[in-house]
Amino acid sequence: MKELSVFSHLLVTKLICLTRAFSLWFALLLSMPSLAQQAILEGDRSVPVEARNGMVVTSHYLATDEALKVLEQGGNAVDAAVTAAFALAVTQPRSGNIGGGGFMLISSEQQDEVVAIDYREKAPAGASRDMFIGADGNADEELSRYSHKSAGVPGSVAGLALALEKYGTISLAKALEPAIRLAQEGFIIPARFSDGIQRAADRLQKHASSRKVFFKPDGSSYQPGERFLQQDLAETLKRIAAQGVKGFYEGRTADLIVAEMQRGGGLITHEDLKNYRPAVRVPVHGNYRGYDIYSMSPPSSGGAHIVQILNVLEGFPISWTGHNSAQTIHLMAEAMKRAYADRSEYLGDTDFIQVPLKGLTSKAYAQLQRDAINRTRATNSATLRPGNPLPYESDETTHFSIVDRFGNAVSNTYTINFSYGSHIVVEGAGFLLNNEMDDFSAKPGVPNAYGLIGGEANKIEPHKRMLSSMSPTIVKKQGKNFLVTGSPGGSRIITTTLQVLMNVIDHHLNIQAAVSAPRVHHQWLPDEIRIEEGISPDTVRLLEEMGHKVVRKAAMGASQSILIGSDGTLYGGADPRRSTSSAQGF
Ligand code: GLY
Repeated sequence: MKELSVFSHLLVTKLICLTRAFSLWFALLLSMPSLAQQAILEGDRSVPVEARNGMVVTSHYLATDEALKVLEQGGNAVDAAVTAAFALAVTQPRSGNIGGGGFMLISSEQQDEVVAIDYREKAPAGASRDMFIGADGNADEELSRYSHKSAGVPGSVAGLALALEKYGTISLAKALEPAIRLAQEGFIIPARFSDGIQRAADRLQKHASSRKVFFKPDGSSYQPGERFLQQDLAETLKRIAAQGVKGFYEGRTADLIVAEMQRGGGLITHEDLKNYRPAVRVPVHGNYRGYDIYSMSPPSSGGAHIVQILNVLEGFPISWTGHNSAQTIHLMAEAMKRAYADRSEYLGDTDFIQVPLKGLTSKAYAQLQRDAINRTRATNSATLRPGNPLPYESDETTHFSIVDRFGNAVSNTYTINFSYGSHIVVEGAGFLLNNEMDDFSAKPGVPNAYGLIGGEANKIEPHKRMLSSMSPTIVKKQGKNFLVTGSPGGSRIITTTLQVLMNVIDHHLNIQAAVSAPRVHHQWLPDEIRIEEGISPDTVRLLEEMGHKVVRKAAMGASQSILIGSDGTLYGGADPRRSTSSAQGF
């Protein structure tokens, strides 16, 4: 009965929407799309890349090429993933980078198993709760975002090596070969690369070590079409190839990192590096309209909240309310804001705190949250507090997706936090340090760089992993890998990944269209729905009439995704929001 009354209510709302939309139609017909809208339309590739034997989708075509070669030569998805990750550290140093950390989900159909590798950075032993509180008692953003202290102990090298050792078939040295070649022989600079450096120039210029890498010896800027060489990085990668993880966490590279810390007042010591260990974790598992959703467990909040939001939305007829309609966006925003409110209270590193995962992802808790949603009015975020999932507790960054012909799928998201991280290159080692310490809550209640509020659960503690939103996700259908997805984008990672899932499952878009479609985002605070270019003005007006503040933002996320058809055909969808994105299969 309840479902029926919801349905009739939605029917009336939809009719009102249609009438209003029709009155706007003539006006819209007369208006030409803006240049920005036109660019989205032109970039909106709607046809996925198709293949039978293997598919690689990454944010850089050179990394895609190298990973595809590994698959073609008989390697599995993990071999290709580790190869891609190191290649991206060279071709896209501002985000995929050995100075950072991340998460990898691996699904093996043969083993009927999905595992998560957590190689998130850790707080150094010398870190303390109030290390970013300034003399005035406020959180010091410069310190938490752009200083040597902003760097956590990097996890990428250890995590990628562990993935290869446990689930791969090639050696670490082999996986590093393309990256070493690309660093040593260089690659042709695409416009996105040189534009990015220009935008970050002020901060990069502050450090001699960063100037040396990202600018020419005479101080001038690199131009598109020129060759970019990274000799120091090549030597660092060769040490890993020769000595394994010890080639990074001990010896010369460790000495260079510690010397950099000492020069800039950072905290990472030889002991911190030597003691860094990645962890194998059980992914968060949920079910949405019959599909099995696997996504990243804490210390990421991604999996918990994707499943939580999907659980809430499962009770609404989303296919019927339609893709990016005002009614659908309203319901999504209401579910999103409740999840992000809970994130602020409950999420953190489970090695240190108890996270009520069962409660957050339970259908009963979702029912409670769904019942509190008014179908036609926005809930003011100021009146919304984190819920209480405990009674149900019964017992963004670079993303890539890879599928092989052996039934394995890899979904990997890794990052150094901001574009260019702390903007500090380790002198002599050639890679940027992350500024992931800003993902802790420097002061409970004070937003981080993404406007995310954190609490006690995510306070800084020595050796703790900072809370993340990274959401590498694999969806299975009747036991078979079905969708491999994820995204960069800081706080927008969760909602970007969610929308790719919904675009496929609820709206039946092909994977390229699902990735390209305009996205929306709500994160509780600030109390606003962020929308990309491409959401229609009449939809915006209807949302505003429901009480939402709607703010147009630049592109959100960059999802590189793969869909596996029921006959085994692989479909790749590369995100046009990154001009270097590429999907290739064979
Ligand atoms: N640094 C962004 C995240 O991990 O969510």
